[in-house]
Amino acid sequence: MHPNKITITKPDDWHLHLRDKSALSTTVSHSARAFGRALVMPNLSPPIITVDDAVSYRERIIAEVPKNSNFQPLMTLYLTDNTELKEISKIKDSEHVLGVKYYPAGATTNSSNGVTNIEKVYHLIEEMSHLDIPLLFHGEVTDHHVDIFDREQVFIETILNPLTERYPDLRIVLEHITTKNAVDFIKDQSKNIAATITIHHLLYNRNNLFLGGLRPHFYCLPILKRDIHQKALIKAALSGNPKFFLGTDSAPHTQSKKESSCGCAGVYSAPAALELYFEFFENNHELDKLEGFASFFGADFYHIARSKKTITLEKNKWRMPKEFIFEDESIIPIHADQELQWKITEN
Ligand code: NCD
Ligand code: ZN
Repeated sequence: MHPNKITITKPDDWHLHLRDKSALSTTVSHSARAFGRALVMPNLSPPIITVDDAVSYRERIIAEVPKNSNFQPLMTLYLTDNTELKEISKIKDSEHVLGVKYYPAGATTNSSNGVTNIEKVYHLIEEMSHLDIPLLFHGEVTDHHVDIFDREQVFIETILNPLTERYPDLRIVLEHITTKNAVDFIKDQSKNIAATITIHHLLYNRNNLFLGGLRPHFYCLPILKRDIHQKALIKAALSGNPKFFLGTDSAPHTQSKKESSCGCAGVYSAPAALELYFEFFENNHELDKLEGFASFFGADFYHIARSKKTITLEKNKWRMPKEFIFEDESIIPIHADQELQWKITEN
């Protein structure tokens, strides 16, 4: 079946970086084009540590939502060694904060305030388990002697596996998974444990980082892995297993910060993410599996109602701009100056 027009329940993006201040005028509209709701990551500088921080950040985002859109940001807190127990309890009474994000200190962009040792936050994790608040992991160890391509696998073996045994009721999302090891781990766990999958980890592997030269716009964390891992992610996304759902990890950085002698990690996918997921499911002859992955499984996991809105895309070629304005500079999006097959027509 090759339909030219498809209407599905409005999708949600379960892992998104919007940044702050002037960045919001670019990022919010790009996500609001395609997604009804998005779980917004808290790795600002300084990070979003308290429920009050999250509520005022949410207001700054809402102020940038285009008039014709009902886009809703859903918020997360950034876990630190010093997070107070009362902040975790406050989440339960907050209508806006859905989970807590765990960055191992030093693992990725703006993670220097992250957790230095999981034992320091066991008391907080215990409270999350008790209150049924999801804990979201950037799942990579930070030891520099561990090969960068193995950091997710080692995190699963040394941190996540023991944690699931210690707190069997804790709801966990392993974010932006990149390895077959992660897919196998998630499949083996209880229904409390799920994972998000980005479009760039489905479309690319580590060869794309070095195709004819160094390609800084493909550099993200966790880093792209070899094709056997990409194939495992593809199979998981297409499987219809509700433990795997959509999270773009769209992570904007200016062109100058990407194309630098020490470039930042992050792929800016929001301007085409949904269209590329459509293309990906279509090319794999599984378009009928897209709606579950994009619009149902994440909402079910987070215990919020599935969207009642819809979105329609048509087979209609368009070209991604070469760049956008971001923080008064340029930003290079995924698929810059390339053709896309699907276009959003009704929203
Ligand atoms: C993200 C960012 O830039 O905030 N970068 C990335 O490569 N994915 C952080 C993250 O999610 O690791
Ligand atoms: Zn991220």
